[in-house]
Amino acid sequence: MTVPPEQQAREAELAHRVERSFDACTNPRLRMIMTALVRHLHDLIREVRLTEHEWTQAIDFLTRCGHITDDKRQEFILLSDVLGSSMQTVTVNDQACGDATEATVFGPFFVEGSPQIPVGGDIAFGAVGEPCWLEGTVTGAAGEIIPNARIEVWEADEDGLYDVQRGDDRIAGRAHLFTGDDGRYSFWGLTPTPYPIPHDGPVGQLLRAVGRSPMRASHLHFRVSHPDYRTLVTHIFVRGDQLLDSDAVFGVRPSLVKDFVRQPIGTPTPDGRVIPDKTWSRAQFDIALAPTDA
Ligand code: BEZ
Ligand code: FE
Repeated sequence: MTVPPEQQAREAELAHRVERSFDACTNPRLRMIMTALVRHLHDLIREVRLTEHEWTQAIDFLTRCGHITDDKRQEFILLSDVLGSSMQTVTVNDQACGDATEATVFGPFFVEGSPQIPVGGDIAFGAVGEPCWLEGTVTGAAGEIIPNARIEVWEADEDGLYDVQRGDDRIAGRAHLFTGDDGRYSFWGLTPTPYPIPHDGPVGQLLRAVGRSPMRASHLHFRVSHPDYRTLVTHIFVRGDQLLDSDAVFGVRPSLVKDFVRQPIGTPTPDGRVIPDKTWSRAQFDIALAPTDA
């Protein structure tokens, strides 16, 4: 649409005046953010020639996000997730550092204080799914092994639900462990399966309106920490998963896609565990942590 010069000048003058309204802000960071926000917001309104009806719909949408948000449900973070803003914030802050493992979104299903398991232990605690043996080494970006790194892992069960979504007090599909003196870790988990992000609220309506799926690519969450290194929040994904290119929250990074190799029924496990009548899988995930100051 062509906007006549006189109209353009009017709109630009308003945008400029609103930007200037932050000139007196004594917090330079806040001033910078608010000025940029207003600049981009006004550009958006002018670019799409936003109608007053659309503006009302947008306000109504945000109001509904607020109404459905409580201490268990955060629709605004979900909105940020599906707009890729969460992942972009992770990307901006997780500065590339040599071969350090890449970060991805945290997601809403982490719980502090998960049970501790030994190396080789099982995080399922009754969560149902195909058993999966995961192992790897935690090193620094220069290759030095890191003993005693804390590894927290959490994942959905084969129904695509995290324990906290079951509405009871169960703790399942999550645990933490520490790397041994050789920097190695291993544990039994479940082969990850795809699941939808919560889509029964306004964000789900938005996804449907734009023809997008709420499904997340199959993944297993990790948070790896050690006092001398930058904490890593990441997931690993399953090579071959059809959803890798359409993850609802844009969390997939090629470097985090791993081979989950399915083992036929009866294949001996690395730790001599007996798994009757079931396949199991195994995957390797070597983790490199960046230095704290990276
Ligand atoms: C998750 O992976 O757990 C998740 C991430 C973002 C939004 C919803 C769920
Ligand atoms: Fe998840």
